[in-house]
Amino acid sequence: MPQPTTIRIFDTTLRDGEQSPGATLNIREKIDIAHQLETLGVDVIEAGFPITSVGDFESVRAIGQELATATVAGLARCVPRDIDRAGEALHGAANPRIHVFCATSKVHREHKLNKAIEQIIELSVESVKRACGMVQDVEFSPEDASRTELSYLVDITGAVVDAGATTVNIPDTVGYAVPEEYGHIFAYLREKLPVLDEKSIYLSAHCHNDLGLAVANSLAAIRNGARQIECTINGIGERAGNAALEEIVMALRTRGDFFDRYRTGIKTERIYPISRMVSTMTGLRVQRNKAIVGENAFAHEAGIHQDGVLKERSTYEIMNPCDIGLPANKLVLGKHSGRHALRDRAQALGFRLDDGQLKKAFESFKALADKKKDIYDEDIEAILDQQLQTGRQLWELVRFQVTSGTNMIATATVVLSDASGEQQMDAATGDGPIDAVYSAIQRITGVQVTLEDYESRAITAGKDAQGEASVAVRHNDRKVRGRGLSTDVVEAAVRAYLAAINRIKSSQGQWPTTDTPDHPPVEPQAETAEVEPKAASG
Ligand code: KIV
Ligand code: ZN
Repeated sequence: MPQPTTIRIFDTTLRDGEQSPGATLNIREKIDIAHQLETLGVDVIEAGFPITSVGDFESVRAIGQELATATVAGLARCVPRDIDRAGEALHGAANPRIHVFCATSKVHREHKLNKAIEQIIELSVESVKRACGMVQDVEFSPEDASRTELSYLVDITGAVVDAGATTVNIPDTVGYAVPEEYGHIFAYLREKLPVLDEKSIYLSAHCHNDLGLAVANSLAAIRNGARQIECTINGIGERAGNAALEEIVMALRTRGDFFDRYRTGIKTERIYPISRMVSTMTGLRVQRNKAIVGENAFAHEAGIHQDGVLKERSTYEIMNPCDIGLPANKLVLGKHSGRHALRDRAQALGFRLDDGQLKKAFESFKALADKKKDIYDEDIEAILDQQLQTGRQLWELVRFQVTSGTNMIATATVVLSDASGEQQMDAATGDGPIDAVYSAIQRITGVQVTLEDYESRAITAGKDAQGEASVAVRHNDRKVRGRGLSTDVVEAAVRAYLAAINRIKSSQGQWPTTDTPDHPPVEPQAETAEVEPKAASG
């Protein structure tokens, strides 16, 4: 019997995942997710791209300092300044890794980098050597590897391994590959470069989901020698996302008969709580029918199926919901639950609260329990998320009143209190109630923004459900998001808008909050250019 091979799980939720359009995480949220990833049993956590913003730098630094067992990686282009910044962010981390990348495909070489094959190899080798001078663990990614000539991939892989890279990642950057072809790249590299096995170099798979093949491609890579898989919780990421961690892990586990030799160190019963946490904090909802963690993943609607499951679960269920940590009973707390019960539940859901935060969260919980009989995990997550999102605020909502209806102009009166506690009131009309309250808020705060996106949803079912609103506003060149929560939908919208305005104020240095100041980064000219990248690579 061959010995089982352990597959390293490299989670990039906080880097590639956070690049999802619409995702926003503050530093506190990133740290909490990183702790949960460590508890989940992830081997490597890519915590950010330090050169891109002060926020990313600080997140990588804080996560590196806090985590004891997982490796913490920071991304860098093949630019000395990028690598130095990543090294600086990882200084003092227990297990630091610098992840260097440079595009290699013809289309990237000719249109993006304007560099010849030899120049790219030279640059990559120099960059890996520079990173090796700072940390022992260096990963190299030839970006768009799946569209790169195989012979060139062999050359660059050999060169960066000679330079000291211990992991070589083969990204399917644009989600173009199909499983047989992607798997073949791994087999080919291992055949042509015996040094990979001799030196125990980790080949890694990094798949995007543009054709819905990210997980299939990752599994094909494993069967052809990949020993590290790069993935994200809920499959979030650029465009159609990255390979979903939970799907890969559960495929290996559920089909142990087929994937006999492969194991991961993931504690699968922690999958559901972290999926919920990432969804709540990023604001990226999990689609209902998403494999493993979607709301319908274990729901049986058809009578024949329900009957079958009642007689024998395995008739229609290939996994046990307990194995992914799906709670059997979702009703958790009520009006009479105390502070300890809330703290215990918060911990079980993966939130770490200090005493001050627990106190505030408990006040929100009690206020909610007065309005709503049954409090579900989703309600608690929303309260805690709100708590972590907002922290100390410049403007707080005191009260508002709005009148609207058919054939009338909506009118709103809003009272806010500022940092000194002084209350300010203003009124405005608008095209509907939300427009009217938002105009009144702009008049009070003096912050002029354009509303770009507004979304509202019920957190749980029922008449008394809490509503969550999320908004995206544009302020000068910046898009800023905010989320708000209330059993009243208009109030949730007001709170979301105020959260975004407070973020803008805090990044202008007008008020300290738990948010990282979000310095708007600069557009990249090319991966090797001496400018700060605006959008990190996918
Ligand atoms: O998709 C990609 O190519 C990436 C690299 C930076 C690894 O995310
Ligand atoms: Zn990517």
